[in-house]
Amino acid sequence: MTAAFLTADRLQAPSRTMAGVDEARAVLDRLWARGREFLGTELAIMGGAMTWVSERNLVAAISNAGGFGVIASGSMSPDLLANEIEATAALTGRPFGVNLITMHPQLLELVDVCLAHSVGHVVLAGGIPPAAAIARIRDGGARALCFAPALVLAKKLVRSGAEAIVIEGSEAGGHIGPVSTAVLAQEVLPHVSEVPVFVAGGIGRGEAILSYLEMGAAGVQLGTRFVCAHESIAHPNFKRAFIRASARDAMPSAQLDTRFPVIPVRALANPATEHFAQTQRDVIERFSRGELSQKDAQLEIEHFWAGALRRAVIDGDVEGGSLMAGQSVGLVSREQSTVDILDELVEQALAVIDARRRAEDRDRQQ
Ligand SMILES: Cc1cc2nc3c(=O)[nH]c(=O)nc-3n(C[C@H](O)[C@H](O)[C@H](O)COP(=O)(O)O)c2cc1C
Repeated sequence: MTAAFLTADRLQAPSRTMAGVDEARAVLDRLWARGREFLGTELAIMGGAMTWVSERNLVAAISNAGGFGVIASGSMSPDLLANEIEATAALTGRPFGVNLITMHPQLLELVDVCLAHSVGHVVLAGGIPPAAAIARIRDGGARALCFAPALVLAKKLVRSGAEAIVIEGSEAGGHIGPVSTAVLAQEVLPHVSEVPVFVAGGIGRGEAILSYLEMGAAGVQLGTRFVCAHESIAHPNFKRAFIRASARDAMPSAQLDTRFPVIPVRALANPATEHFAQTQRDVIERFSRGELSQKDAQLEIEHFWAGALRRAVIDGDVEGGSLMAGQSVGLVSREQSTVDILDELVEQALAVIDARRRAEDRDRQQ
C-alpha cells in the first residue's frame, strides 16, 4: 500500500481544491525530482538505517509506502546480511538500500553480499569510507551513498566516486557530529551540485522537508520518526519512551576527560546515562591512582555501551540500555503505520505549498 496523500475528503482547509492539491504535488515533485530519480521511489524520503530497528519489516514497510527503506547491517556477518536482504526482498518489490559501517572488518565482503543480491544502493556510514569500497559498489552496478560531516569531505567523497551525499546534523539520533543540520545544510547545499544531497537530523515534519528541498536538497533521511511505526519491531517499552519524551530529553553522551574521548551518541537520558558518567569517574580515578593503563581505561569506557542498543530495542530494557533518539523525538506522539507517517509528512509539505499559492492568488486579485 502506498501513502494515500491528499484526497478530496482529507483537504484540511475549506478553500483547498483538488486542482490546488495537484498543483502543490507537482511543485513538490519538481523539488525532489532528483532524489526520487536517484532512489527510484515515489518520495525522496529515506528511512535512515537504525541498528536493530531497521530490519526487514520496517525497511519493507517504508519502501512499500513509497519511501526508501535502508537495512541497518550494524555488526552483521555476511551470512546474516544475506539473510536479511533476502527476507526484505520477499516483503517488497520496491527499491531499498543497505547501510554498511565502514570500520566493519569484512566491509568488502558485505559489499559483495549486497551486489550478489542486486541491492541497488549501498550507504557507507560511520567514518570516511575507503575509496576501494566505493569503487567496488560502483563496479558492481550499485550506487554508493556516503555520509559527509563537512563541505570539504563532501567534495572529497564526490571526487572519490560517491554518487550521493548524506549530511547528518547533530540533532540526529545515534552517533553524531558536532554541527547542526541547519548549519551543515547551509555549508554544503549551495556548494555541492555534482551529486544529489540528502539531509538528515532533526526532521520530524513536512514543513522542514520542504525547506531543505528549497535550499537545494534532493531529498531527506529520517530515523527517529519511524521508530514508533506499527511495523517497527522495537520493544513496546522503547516505543513508549519515545512517545513520552520531549526534544530536550535526547542528549549527547557526556565526556568527562579529554584524555578519554567518548564518541558522542544522542540518546534519551535514562539511568544508564548516569551510570556511564559514574563509570567514567571511577575509571579516571583508577587511572590517576596508577591502577589502570590509559589504554585499558579507554577500553573500559568504550565497553560500557556494548550491546546496550540491543538491550533497549529488543529486550525493552529502557533503564539499562541505550535509548538512541534524535531531538525530533519530541514530535513523535503516538504509534502510527508507516503509510500514515509518510502521508502526514507529505501532507504537511503540500499544505505549505498550497497556502502560498492561495496567498499569491489573493494578492493578484487585490
Ligand atoms: C536508534 C537509532 C539507531 C541508529 N543506527 C544507525 C546505524 O546503525 N547506522 C547509521 O548510519 N545511522 C544510524 N542512525 C541514524 C539514522 O540512520 C538517521 O540518520 C538519523 O536517525 C536521522 O536523524 P533523526 O533521528 O533526527 O531523524 C540511528 C539512529 C537511531 C535513532
